Amino acid sequence: MSERTCLSVILAAGEGTRMKSATPKVLHKIAGLEMLGHVTRALDAAGAGDKALVVGHGAEAVSRAAEGFAPGAETFIQAERLGTGHAVLAARAAIARGYDDVLVTFGDTPLISLDALAALRAGLAAGADVVVMGFRTERPTGYGRLIEDGDALVAIREEKDCSDEERRITFCNGGAMALAGSRALELLDAIGNDNAKGEYYLTDAVEIAAGRGLTVRAIEADYESALGINNRAELAGAETIWQNRRRRTVMLDGVTMIDPQTVYFSHDTVIGRDTVIEPNVFFGPGVTVGENVTIRASSHLEEARVDEGASVGPFARLRPGAEIMEGAKIGNFVEIKKTRVEPGAKVPHLSYVGDARVGAKANLGAGTITCNYDGFSKHFTDIEPGAFIGTNSALVAPLTIGAGAYVASGSVITESVPADALAFGRARQSNRAGLGKRLRDRLAAIKARRG
Ligand code: UD1
Ligand code: CA
Repeated sequence: MSERTCLSVILAAGEGTRMKSATPKVLHKIAGLEMLGHVTRALDAAGAGDKALVVGHGAEAVSRAAEGFAPGAETFIQAERLGTGHAVLAARAAIARGYDDVLVTFGDTPLISLDALAALRAGLAAGADVVVMGFRTERPTGYGRLIEDGDALVAIREEKDCSDEERRITFCNGGAMALAGSRALELLDAIGNDNAKGEYYLTDAVEIAAGRGLTVRAIEADYESALGINNRAELAGAETIWQNRRRRTVMLDGVTMIDPQTVYFSHDTVIGRDTVIEPNVFFGPGVTVGENVTIRASSHLEEARVDEGASVGPFARLRPGAEIMEGAKIGNFVEIKKTRVEPGAKVPHLSYVGDARVGAKANLGAGTITCNYDGFSKHFTDIEPGAFIGTNSALVAPLTIGAGAYVASGSVITESVPADALAFGRARQSNRAGLGKRLRDRLAAIKARRG
């Protein structure tokens, strides 16, 4: 089947007014990836060939975003929204190049499965001219109904055009459709707009094909594959389905989660075997976690890497560019940004470390802060291997703390510290005998005079 050439036409011209958003509907995200990106990924996984993206509302933003998740997709503008059949024809130039398969999907149906896409194409490979992705639902309202005669599909009737009897059919059109490339344009060109909505319905291709004696079939897909998103509540519903699926695959791949329902993954999160994830952990995009790592409760990670045997949290925040190397430890209330924490290094409590390197086996005491920003530029702090930073120290970048150096607690370090030196960056303490008692007696006397 993979030898057949395929053009995927993805319809994404809709306005999506019910999202109540300045962002085009198909760019709303599930697991950190645009809905449209979920569709193009599924198409890629199904080997569905070249992509023609039909855009209209927010065309520029949609095309720009697509460069990220679907580089190489051709975009076509549907200037007027005259229906799904009209929308597919916006990609006429691509279809006319001649493909074995033309696969039409919707950009707002993000959970379409690889199996469904494969079944649509398999239908064409088996000789059908048109294959429709059907699904069954007890609540068919709003969907086109599939009208069958034996195992042939004879028509799709849109809700508004249904007879009472047809309205009772529960086998519905999930939206996706595959057309034999050799027939696609003649079928699409034959679609008219004589219906309740006055739109050019893609679904009419079925009746036209059946009328010409062509072979039309329906495949049955899971409900999720047909799940169209129209508002934010439905978006959240799709997110829940996606998260539940991913939690399950992550666990089946060898990761322990104590309370999986409270752990949120991004579309691209990678987690190694025998890693343990405690409750309430959020993975933003771009996180890779190695094997045997512990991510403790209530941690937030994005664009970060955690290598084998490291531990993070509880209550840790790894921001973009955090690299926690083998066996390193990031403890509670610690924020790490654009910093490599080398093997065995420790940042156990209450720290901000940004634009830095923490060398192997270095130890940062509680409350260590890198002062990396002067209001204009970011500066680098290089903490070399084995350095020991005393509690509550401020490291004013740019700086190098040499290998094996010590920084005394409570220091404000503004100059680099040579290797193996001991740096004091604080006022020397002096104790005055008896002065505490004298001060207390005087304050008590003042208070007594006032009554
Ligand atoms: C469509 C199907 C219906 C099916 C349902 C499944 C048609 C005529 N009807 O109905 O049988 O049960 O999907 O969800 O196809 N679009 C454009 N340009 C247009 C019109 C639509 O790009 O001119 C895009 C929309 O952005 C959307 C998709 O096509 O992504 C479907 O359009 P929509 O209006 O939502 O169709 P439905 O009425 O839901
Ligand atoms: Ca719809």
